[in-house]
Amino acid sequence: MLTEPLLRVENLVKHFAGRRVLDGISFEVAPGEVLGLVGESGSGKSTTARCVARLTEPDQGRVTLAGRDVLAAGRRELRAIRRDMQMVFQDPYSSLNPRMTVAALIEEPLAVHRLEADRRRRRDRAAELLELVGMSAAHLDRHPRSFSGGQRQRISIARALAVGPRLLICDEPVSSLDVSVQAQVLNLLGDLRRRLGLSILFIAHDLAVVYYLCDRVAVLENGALVEIGTREQVYGSPSHPYTRSLLDAVPVPDPAVERARRSDR
Ligand SMILES: Nc1ncnc2c1ncn2[C@@H]1O[C@H](COP(=O)(O)OP(=O)(O)O)[C@@H](O)[C@H]1O
Ligand SMILES: [Mg+2]
Repeated sequence: MLTEPLLRVENLVKHFAGRRVLDGISFEVAPGEVLGLVGESGSGKSTTARCVARLTEPDQGRVTLAGRDVLAAGRRELRAIRRDMQMVFQDPYSSLNPRMTVAALIEEPLAVHRLEADRRRRRDRAAELLELVGMSAAHLDRHPRSFSGGQRQRISIARALAVGPRLLICDEPVSSLDVSVQAQVLNLLGDLRRRLGLSILFIAHDLAVVYYLCDRVAVLENGALVEIGTREQVYGSPSHPYTRSLLDAVPVPDPAVERARRSDR
């Protein structure tokens, strides 16, 4: 990697009830890069995300974000780190408090991180963020229940962006959405990445979704990273049998990659 990585993950190990769920995971995400993390259900994708964001404490390993040690950080330092690293979860129905308005949901992180003391300016910022994710500021006083899944996920993204993170960790952000809506949310993430220079750790079990958005792809099998490479390498000439079996299960959208795959056999 030519530039210093924004996120560096080294040798993450995690056990649940004596079972080794992460078996020494290492990878890096460069500034402005989208890294896809794929693998079957239960392979350890969410646990990896949660350990990186320190929502779960790993048993071993090292995580640095812009050179800061995430796992060794005290409360204050962790709060500062969380401004740089925000998560978007799979289910926008359970991740947004139904009693809060859209404005309150987006303003909350601004208040928690003491980024904007003035109430009116907080609201203006919420309006800007809502428009940034392709929604009208006229929706600010509505509640999450009046929105579709795709719109709720846009609100979750606006909320994550409120503190100005450099890295978004998106754990299956489109998996609960209809296919037609998935494309719109993926477009939005691609657009935000370009406009804001965001890095994204993008987790999905659907390889077609990952192909669309990611520069590089890491493949997780039973808690171990079995393959990591550029999108073209991993989809065009997968080196690991597990990656090939994942690819065989999905239609790949790009005809060139489809040809490369066939001629590879
Ligand atoms: N809090 C937990 N307690 C016990 N086991 C867990 C917990 N979270 C995840 N696991 C187990 O760890 C493994 C990896 O889970 P997870 O990271 O959620 O996989 P994925 O996101 O790839 O589907 C699974 O076997 C799961 O059952
Ligand atoms: Mg998961």
